[in-house]
Amino acid sequence: MKIVVSGIRPTGNLHLGNYYGAVKNFIKMQSENNCFFFIADYHSLTTHPTPENLRENVKIILSEYLACGLDPEKSTIYVQSDVPEVAELYLLLNMNAYLGELQRVTSFKEKARKHPDNVNAGLLTYPTLMAADIIIHKAHQVPVGKDQEQNMEMIRTFTRRFNRMYKTDIFPVPNAYNFGESLVKVPGLDGTGKMGKSESGMNAIFLSDDPKLIKKKIMKALTDSGPTEPNQEKPDYIQNLFTLMDIVSEKDVVNHFNEQYNNCSIRYGDMKKQLAEDMINFTAPIREKILAYKADDALLEKIALMGAEKAQESAQKTMKEVRKILGFR
Ligand code: TRP
Repeated sequence: MKIVVSGIRPTGNLHLGNYYGAVKNFIKMQSENNCFFFIADYHSLTTHPTPENLRENVKIILSEYLACGLDPEKSTIYVQSDVPEVAELYLLLNMNAYLGELQRVTSFKEKARKHPDNVNAGLLTYPTLMAADIIIHKAHQVPVGKDQEQNMEMIRTFTRRFNRMYKTDIFPVPNAYNFGESLVKVPGLDGTGKMGKSESGMNAIFLSDDPKLIKKKIMKALTDSGPTEPNQEKPDYIQNLFTLMDIVSEKDVVNHFNEQYNNCSIRYGDMKKQLAEDMINFTAPIREKILAYKADDALLEKIALMGAEKAQESAQKTMKEVRKILGFR
């Protein structure tokens, strides 16, 4: 059995991009692998949430993980900070992580550029914390989106470096994992790129959005007066709507609107109505489950505790070996 590790930072509700980019793969992997899925609350400290916000956001992601179908009987589902061994391994790995290589990571540079007043050491060493998350369970596979490719390269470097330096093969070198062609990039609704959080919240469809809001967001998506020539190339913002439809709608529905586009009879209002309906059909049952889990603190508590115990056992075992390898008694 392969060991699988992945996590999501608790910085707000999950949207369709998170679902199709990550969570859907988690669910597919959980039957055939030994999976560890966690909520990366240490990582979220780089942006200094209040304790109340942190707690609430962890609860949201846990509810949403479960509502999507992550199964605590099959996978180890836990909160990162419930496993402090991760912080210990992070400290040790930081001794062999160099300023130059950490400074070259694009996501660090981007965050530093966007928030020049908050370039903290946690942000710089984000990849070493991520490495600790992954290798503490001796993972082979890490299901992540394309945006994590560079972090994964750093992690592979740190892992090889540790093994080489201490002349050991304790850690497998982990791979970023996708299901081959099924790598999807879910576009956002504002026509500018991938689905993600935005100031207005209008660029993304969140799993917790109610049907009215989903309809409103879809109907607001940018379109134009339609194609003027048969088989015309689609502008980005129209292609995005078709891509979204590809993801949530039946094939013949997509084909139908494609034909209409190609013979210039398409009415975008009708297409959006259909898209909204199909999105609502997909999200509504998940949303109901999210609400049920969020209202059941006792159950969430129980599941988090069960995950924490399993994750701690695995982490403690690794750290015992690591301490010995380093020369600690
Ligand atoms: N960096 C990941 C993200 O932003 C979250 C994350 C933290 C993670 N630690 C991880 C993902 C370990 C996979 C494995 O989405």
